[in-house]
Amino acid sequence: MAQYQSFPGAVGDSRSLDKLKALHLPVLADKSFLDVGCNEGFFCGFAAFQGASRIVGIDRSQLFVERAAARFPQVDFFAQGWDELPDGQFDVILLASALHYADDQAALIRTLVGKLTANGVLVLELGVTHSAEPIWEAVVRGIDRRLFPSMPMLREVLGDYAWKWMGPSIRQDGDPVARQVIHVSRRRPLAYLLMQPPGYGKSSVAGGLFPKAGVPLISGDAEVSAVARGESRASPALVEAIRRDFSPYSIDKAIQRVFAEQLGHELIALLMARAGDGDVAIDVYVPHEQHEVMRAIVADHGRIPVVLDWGRIGEAPLMEEEMERQANAYYLAMLPSDQPGAVAIDWKHAGVVDEVWIERGRLMLRGWAVGSDGRLPDEVSIELGRKTIKADRLERQLRPDVQQALGLPHALVGYRLTIPITADVDLSAVVRKLKVSFDGQATNASNIKVRASQ
Ligand SMILES: C[S@@+](CC[C@H](N)C(=O)[O-])C[C@H]1O[C@@H](n2cnc3c(N)ncnc32)[C@H](O)[C@@H]1O
Repeated sequence: MAQYQSFPGAVGDSRSLDKLKALHLPVLADKSFLDVGCNEGFFCGFAAFQGASRIVGIDRSQLFVERAAARFPQVDFFAQGWDELPDGQFDVILLASALHYADDQAALIRTLVGKLTANGVLVLELGVTHSAEPIWEAVVRGIDRRLFPSMPMLREVLGDYAWKWMGPSIRQDGDPVARQVIHVSRRRPLAYLLMQPPGYGKSSVAGGLFPKAGVPLISGDAEVSAVARGESRASPALVEAIRRDFSPYSIDKAIQRVFAEQLGHELIALLMARAGDGDVAIDVYVPHEQHEVMRAIVADHGRIPVVLDWGRIGEAPLMEEEMERQANAYYLAMLPSDQPGAVAIDWKHAGVVDEVWIERGRLMLRGWAVGSDGRLPDEVSIELGRKTIKADRLERQLRPDVQQALGLPHALVGYRLTIPITADVDLSAVVRKLKVSFDGQATNASNIKVRASQ
């Protein structure tokens, strides 16, 4: 039989090295590779050279297969037609200069795509005629008469797949039709991700795009709220993370907790369960540092993540603590300037702890205190036995009851303190040992109401 492929010591009809370059094969290292109509195994040899993990070549010609096996003993060659394909799926399948030998060419392409792994690619090298009509055109060659598709025909055949025309292949002497290289893979559904923080207009952007395009839109807020209401098949850990301090006005905080506690996979699985089989849009805030994790989760669910990114529309509101600081400053600035809080009592530091409880691993204290200037002291620290602990956060609160009782000119003398503690602290022991200092003046905490831990 005539020599077809070309090797260093055997020149055939085909310039195999040039064809190899034109195929634009993906990197084959650690991949599985199947060459259908492999001839003497030139391309299987290349897969072995690149370190493919499994290499199989099939050709109906016993002679070519024997020659291939002699050249590349490390490769599995089988003398068989493509009506019977080797077991398993392949990352890369090559069908070069052979499709025109198939009785049903479209069926062979479908069968080969069916043998691809989820991210696999079928590398097709084939003659394509110039006709503008979607036809299989009979072409008389020196040796025989075969059917070749026009480009519109190929578009029809590949309509269900994702495919890319990689460019022309080599021209061979006596070729009646130019050869092209086309990569074909399974079409994977897309997941459009809108992950910006609250206030970016995610719902408006999504609502303007996806319903019109017939793409289902899934809301992360709705799912998180359903979990909080117990209307979802979430694990106890996810329910707990979402319900802890849940507010429908700050669902972003619940989502932050979910990702921080490595429960993002489960939340996204709940969303994907609503997604159906096709493309989907997901409107869910995801903390920026978790975007890569989110893409990986979506890819695990068989979707290609497409991230939609845009800037914030309008000014961001002040952060909570800064707003509190500015609002308090404004409130105190309204005091008459000639009597900044001075009242006719003997001002020493006075303060009371009304309530103590543990919330989210923090010791919380609520009470009131007045410094010698009639205002809530700036410095508050806690003594627990011999330990002095600085408050994490001092939130000022209005106490009209204290204002009235002491005849103060304003009511901003209440506080809520957040104090970091070790996890296993005993609340009643804390209360026994507790001393609170306002601007360095210690006050014994008495008559404290102890709230059950949350
Ligand atoms: C033109 S050669 C191309 C060889 C190789 N793919 C290349 O591009 O260098 C076509 C090859 O397809 C093989 N072939 C033809 N019909 C086949 C079939 N039904 N099943 C498997 N191989 C077939 C032939 O034996 C031949 O080796």
